[in-house]
Amino acid sequence: MKFFIDTAEVADIRELAETGLVDGVTTNPSLIAKSGRKILDVIAEICDIVPGPISAEVAATDFDTMLAEGRKLAKLRSNVAVKVPLTPAGLKTCKALSDDGVKVNVTLCFSANQAILAAKAGAAFISPFVGRLDDIGQDGMELIADIVAIYREYPMWRTEVLAASIRHPMHVTEAARLGAHVATMPPSVLRQMYKHPLTDKGLEAFMSDWAKTGQSIL
Ligand code: E4P
Repeated sequence: MKFFIDTAEVADIRELAETGLVDGVTTNPSLIAKSGRKILDVIAEICDIVPGPISAEVAATDFDTMLAEGRKLAKLRSNVAVKVPLTPAGLKTCKALSDDGVKVNVTLCFSANQAILAAKAGAAFISPFVGRLDDIGQDGMELIADIVAIYREYPMWRTEVLAASIRHPMHVTEAARLGAHVATMPPSVLRQMYKHPLTDKGLEAFMSDWAKTGQSIL
């Protein structure tokens, strides 16, 4: 499973990239607004830190402007993946950019039907929003399971299932268990994934016993 970080905060991205576990980054207009930076500057900077796909979302809603924005974002760096919303104009843009060889991440997916349309439009990634479905009392993971099962029936579709709107480490575990290709998570979730009280307790005991030996490996 690939790990993407869902943020436009460069300091977090730099720190987490050093773990060697980060395969890409996703942003959206809300995350760009939160960063307080210009989209073109921040996306270029992120692309230079993480070599994997960096999702940059278009801001228009009509086809012509989305296509122009997508082309401009794609020209920034070769690892930009243009993010488009799951609307008729968004999928038309997805098809046009994909035909040009640009990777497209189709976002705001809340149903299996929408995911089928995105695959047919040539999306490189489909982003089902797990947490936002959970928030309204629907099981977000059921959607991941459905999309993974449907895509497996059509190996000619190269679209990767990117579990998005991840809120906690169990979302990552469950998405991995279901076979999602990618999980994009806030920095806090990746940091939480390392943690277990028995790891801390065990390490403390090992360190204390080791100190008693008076030895040094180096
Ligand atoms: C990622 O591509 C999405 O934009 C993001 O995961 C949405 O997460 P949220 O529902 O926590 O805003």
